[in-house]
Amino acid sequence: MTTRGALIVFEGLDRSGKTTQTEKLLKYLNENGKKAIIQRFPDRSEPLTGSTIDNYLRNASCINQTKEAIHLLFSANRWLLRQKIEELLKEGTNVIVDRYSFSGVTYTLSKGVSKQFACPPELGLIRPDAVLYFDVDPAVTAKRGGFGDEVLERTDFQQKVRENMKMFENQSYWKKINANETIDEVHKNVCAIVNDLIPKVATNPIESLDE
Ligand code: TMP
Repeated sequence: MTTRGALIVFEGLDRSGKTTQTEKLLKYLNENGKKAIIQRFPDRSEPLTGSTIDNYLRNASCINQTKEAIHLLFSANRWLLRQKIEELLKEGTNVIVDRYSFSGVTYTLSKGVSKQFACPPELGLIRPDAVLYFDVDPAVTAKRGGFGDEVLERTDFQQKVRENMKMFENQSYWKKINANETIDEVHKNVCAIVNDLIPKVATNPIESLDE
């Protein structure tokens, strides 16, 4: 019987170390004979939505985009990759996702948009098997290299995102990671969770986000 791959999502504030850790996990899984790929969101190379989102984030856009329209673009960006992710999981590839619906919802809520507007577009996307949430104080990330390069990298805004992320704490897939530890310690914690997860979900059906 073909077993499926796991959908492992990394979430957290800007500069919380997610990207470094997704790359370390990919290398670890490949070295241990497991198929895996990284999918980043927003996917700035996606032909319909990628460059508009990239322009917005780099503050290079010449059109006046509303918060709601930007939210839907981020969500559409995920929907446009849904089928590809499902196919990869079904053929047994583990999909490591750098940001997903949880960034989508919390970043938009932090701009003052309602939950009633922000949550529905995410329903029906593939439900992650685990969300590794990199928790860190925005006062710490603000000191890290590159912080401030993009429009949403402001400490007061990041603090709101951190507060809003708490809405997912009760979900069974939510695993909080202390992102203040060293890169190697965080990697060890990530590997322990993922090693446990992959065999557990291998014969589970692929489900959709429904709440
Ligand atoms: P990145 O730095 O991980 O590429 O993310 C780009 C920024 O986009 C980051 O500040 C978080 C934000 N974002 C949203 O506002 N909504 C979304 O749906 C996603 C995936 C990211």
